[in-house]
Amino acid sequence: MANRLPAVVIDNGTGYTKMGYAGNTEPQFIIPSAIAIKESASVGDQSQKRLGKGVEDLDFFIGDEAINQPSYATKWPIRHGIIEDWDLMERFYEQAIFKYLRAEPEDHYFLLTEPPLNTPENREYTAEIMFESFNIPGLYIAVQAVLALAASWTSRQVGDRTLTGTVIDSGDGVTHVIPVAEGYVIGSCIKHIPIAGRDITYFIQQLLREREVGIPPEQSLETAKAIKERYSYVCPDIAKEFAKYDADPAKWMKKFEGVNAVTKNPFSVDVGYERFLGPEIFFHPEFCNPDFELPISEVVDDVVQNCPIDVRRGLYKNIVLSGGSTMFRDFGRKIQRDVKRIVDARLKVSEDLSAGRIKPKPIDVNVITHHMQRYAVWFGGSMLASTPEFYQVCHTKADYDEHGPSICRHNPVFGIMA
Ligand SMILES: Nc1ncnc2c1ncn2[C@@H]1O[C@H](COP(=O)(O)OP(=O)(O)OP(=O)(O)O)[C@@H](O)[C@H]1O
Ligand SMILES: [Mg+2]
Repeated sequence: MANRLPAVVIDNGTGYTKMGYAGNTEPQFIIPSAIAIKESASVGDQSQKRLGKGVEDLDFFIGDEAINQPSYATKWPIRHGIIEDWDLMERFYEQAIFKYLRAEPEDHYFLLTEPPLNTPENREYTAEIMFESFNIPGLYIAVQAVLALAASWTSRQVGDRTLTGTVIDSGDGVTHVIPVAEGYVIGSCIKHIPIAGRDITYFIQQLLREREVGIPPEQSLETAKAIKERYSYVCPDIAKEFAKYDADPAKWMKKFEGVNAVTKNPFSVDVGYERFLGPEIFFHPEFCNPDFELPISEVVDDVVQNCPIDVRRGLYKNIVLSGGSTMFRDFGRKIQRDVKRIVDARLKVSEDLSAGRIKPKPIDVNVITHHMQRYAVWFGGSMLASTPEFYQVCHTKADYDEHGPSICRHNPVFGIMA
């Protein structure tokens, strides 16, 4: 007990897997959640595979190595945050643990993450793989949104630690708005927004394509992504922003320098309006998606309004950002301003309707921005898994052997006292 090795923390996203050891501030590896297998290989035989200890049969690749691997098929076992192919996922874990982390799974407790609305059956499958194939001593499956709330504690006083709040989680493929009350997700009130990192990249790619000629076509996507990550930000008002650029282009335009991967010739791209137009699609989704027009701030307000009245104040007061696509400068500031406007306008209506007899108590709206947003879920997991409390809430191998996988259907909330 005394010299226990740190827990392994793995956050499997649709696009990227973040993995490392509890207690660190950053994951050791961030790799695409992809696996490449030989087209002919049969992955179906569970019984045979589980007899092995996982080091043999290494004829497959995960992460960056899995992409563009000739004569292998690249697969993405996680869709919309949910594990869909368990055989591939088991192999993915195998390399993640042995080849990347170089861990002996028998020696470490594990904290894994799940999206909101994951099923109890999926938790059982996860437990089976972890306890039976990898023989781990203890497992906890944490809800990503709850970890994101815990991650935001870094930016505040110890007394303000709470597991009540609204999480805006925006990765590559999808954005979720998730209300959480005292560590429990209010599942029926979650909303999805069909706009995330990939859409912003495509939008910028399209803007550049209309104007810039120098970008090698096969590099246009990665160039758009790099420009997005490096230069984009959220502006308070697009009309004013256009005017600013037009008045003094030299001050606002950036130059992106790239190298043609084939000819090795350098090329450069003038980056202008796309700096603020890219992330603006969160606030004007109709720019890129004709079927969806609700600005993100209205979605956040809707989510809170759908929740029970006694938790609404807590949800407005603690709006937390998580995921790579929440990293744009001033993203949180604009959401805070817009949600505050909606909330104040609603209070004003009820005051006016009562002809001034009701003076509603103002509602606090806070969006919390912090340095760990990019890996908020992983970081929250790393923090919680390094507390003594973590070891008390884990399901152990002995429990598993005695009661079976069904004990892993439920994972008790913890951390508020941490
Ligand atoms: N500095 C940055 N500014 C803006 N976007 C960024 C930045 N860094 C990374 N991103 C974007 O974040 C996205 C990846 O985010 P994240 O790792 O949270 O996704 P994920 O967890 O794999 O996917 P999901 O949450 O959809 O399952 C990519 O679209 C990437 O371009
Ligand atoms: Mg994610």
